[in-house]
Amino acid sequence: MNGIDFPLVIDSFYLVAAVLLFLGLKRLSSPATARNGNAIAALGILVAVVVTLLDRSIEREGFYVIIAGVIVGGGVGVALARSIQMTAMPQLVAVFNGFGGAGSAVVAAAEFLRLSDSGERMSIDVSVTIMLGTLVGLVTFSGSIVAFAKLQELIDGKPITFPLQKTISAVIFAGIAALIVYIIIAGGDPAAYYGVIFLCLLLGVLMVIPIGGADMPVVISLLNSYSGIAAAMAGFALGNTMLIIAGSLVGAAGLILTQIMTKAMNRSLVNVLFGAFGAQASGTVAGGQEDKAVREATPDDAAVAMAYSGTVVLVPGYGLAVARAQHQLKELSEMLEERGVDVRYAIHPVAGRMPGHMNVLLAEADVPYDKLFDLDEINDRFPNTDFVLVVGANDVVNPAARDEQGSPIYGMPILEVDKSGQVLVLKRSMNPGFAGLDNELFYKDNTMMLFGDAQDSLTRLIASIKDV
Ligand code: TAP
Repeated sequence: MNGIDFPLVIDSFYLVAAVLLFLGLKRLSSPATARNGNAIAALGILVAVVVTLLDRSIEREGFYVIIAGVIVGGGVGVALARSIQMTAMPQLVAVFNGFGGAGSAVVAAAEFLRLSDSGERMSIDVSVTIMLGTLVGLVTFSGSIVAFAKLQELIDGKPITFPLQKTISAVIFAGIAALIVYIIIAGGDPAAYYGVIFLCLLLGVLMVIPIGGADMPVVISLLNSYSGIAAAMAGFALGNTMLIIAGSLVGAAGLILTQIMTKAMNRSLVNVLFGAFGAQASGTVAGGQEDKAVREATPDDAAVAMAYSGTVVLVPGYGLAVARAQHQLKELSEMLEERGVDVRYAIHPVAGRMPGHMNVLLAEADVPYDKLFDLDEINDRFPNTDFVLVVGANDVVNPAARDEQGSPIYGMPILEVDKSGQVLVLKRSMNPGFAGLDNELFYKDNTMMLFGDAQDSLTRLIASIKDV
């Protein structure tokens, strides 16, 4: 097969691909440019894949296997991405991370077995990268599968703990380290390597089962970072610059996202990984406030209050995604604006179930980006806001995070909607949100509840506003 056999040409295309990845990643930092950034980064990956396939060092038989893999893998990816519900996106990301980790571990293992079969002694740098690729790749794989099972509710989503858990994990980690050191010194030993594989898979499971509840997104983002690190290790093992660059970018971006999310939840990474959030939640758990009464609103009352407000802030949460009510929310906001009301959307960084969940939903309904305000921009405005409409949000507006020292979410920054003139909460019942905690907001004097599916309630509100 004819192909490019000049390393310089290949490296030049890899450079182009790397620049496209950088540009794409940069554009992902704003909702206005994110879609375009995604396309640019995808183009970068396409360039990298095509150039790699044209590399003459790939043999003809290998070439067809790769093409078959691209068609099958790409087909499954497209089908999954097109059919997945917005609310199931975290599970999808978990699966993708797991496959990424597994792919890198397979590359590392293939390189190990190839060198073992050839009978040559492995150099220290090669065996170190192979071992690290195997360790990070397999921990990412089994950890991500557990994360998927938790989010898909195939297993209990709460932290699963048992006595001596941390000690057992530490012993397993020490065992892996000892085997790796032995393999490196011995210059390769397949039997010991199989031991490493088994222990790494076990460690990934043990690392993720004690994590649960609201901490899952942080874990997903961390596993995403691990999958990048594993890919970079595979790049070192294969001597492929592009894989090193792409893997490092994923690793760094995942770490930054992890840090942003832990900050948004006011938790440290150590606390997320070893704190077993939700295992012994000490805040007011749901159901503890049955004696308190809430005030129910009719759509007509709420419509009058909203239509005659000067400023209205809309607070979307996970329930908006479940109800798929973003289009109705936008319609309502436009009707209010036509009446001269100043309407803004308040976006909490962890509203929903994945980073940027609300931004993506609202972008789908073509809500202008300049109407979206994040926590730091909008919190000072609530005391001067006449009316807040909370649509399927709960934890992110729970005053316990600010006022109740014993609460598991204490210290997490919230949207302080309770400081505004009047609040209307749209949800289906008094059930709690993701953290499983009761919400004092619902019982406040300036709060009204409108129970029902958010899409339904918004449709009723829209009809009522038309009549005001
Ligand atoms: P939640 O606290 O989970 O509250 C969502 C509320 O929506 C629930 O109280 C639910 O009440 C209501 N709801 C569900 N379906 C509805 C429907 N069809 N119509 C109307 N209401 C509906 O959501 P949030 O305030 O967005 O907070 C997010 C939570 O998830 C935080 O605890 C966060 O830490 C966690 N989390 C975030 C992420 C990221 S990165 N965004 C990822 C995972 C977890 P009813 O059942 O009574 O209707």
